[in-house]
Amino acid sequence: MPDSPPRLLAFAGSLRQGSYNRRLVHVLAEGAREAGAQVTLIELRDYPLPIYDGDIEAEGMPEHARRLQALMAGHDGLLVSTPEYNGSMPALVKNTLDWISRPIESGRSGVTLFQDKVAGIVSASPGPLGGLRSLLVLRDALAKLGLLVVPQQVAVGQAADKLTDYGVLNDDRLRAGVHGVGAAVVRHLGGVNRTDDRKGATA
Ligand SMILES: Cc1cc2nc3c(=O)[nH]c(=O)nc-3n(C[C@H](O)[C@H](O)[C@H](O)COP(=O)(O)O)c2cc1C
Repeated sequence: MPDSPPRLLAFAGSLRQGSYNRRLVHVLAEGAREAGAQVTLIELRDYPLPIYDGDIEAEGMPEHARRLQALMAGHDGLLVSTPEYNGSMPALVKNTLDWISRPIESGRSGVTLFQDKVAGIVSASPGPLGGLRSLLVLRDALAKLGLLVVPQQVAVGQAADKLTDYGVLNDDRLRAGVHGVGAAVVRHLGGVNRTDDRKGATA
């Protein structure tokens, strides 16, 4: 294990106030912290971005996209809790990843900000499958960006009964599973060379 704790960037793929995924990402962050990580939990509401548009980018990268790139550059991995929309990940999550992947100020591809980093993913939904299908899509998207996505994942169904507050998951087995995703990310970061790339992008 490296001497400095792994730094993980965490967010939920939902903007709404009572989001189950926002509640769940706190449980995931807790698992990673208990395993030794330093977790930065952000709200995507604080980084509002238009749907990716090359014309907007040509006029200058949106400030929030630059801030997200700088955050990604300064972390060793990602923790994401995603809703499922029509069997896939929400546009918010994809759009966030797409903006981060655009060239950073040096001209280098933003995709390099993800490469060789490690991700842990979970989902929550009021439905019985817990958003499981969104995890398949998100896993694929993150892998294409060069992240190693740990095999452990948890989909929390019947979320209204189980995720009653931030960081509260009223199911011991599921909570252990979500903590296990965070711990697996930390374990994998102990075994891969962490990119020393924290000056790659600026806020
Ligand atoms: C456009 C849209 C599509 C949805 N599709 C699905 C779906 O395919 N599967 C599912 O389990 N829930 C689906 N839902 C319900 C979401 O799981 C539910 O709104 C959930 O609370 C969203 O996550 P959040 O609580 O973190 O905001 C959909 C909701 C919306 C708005």
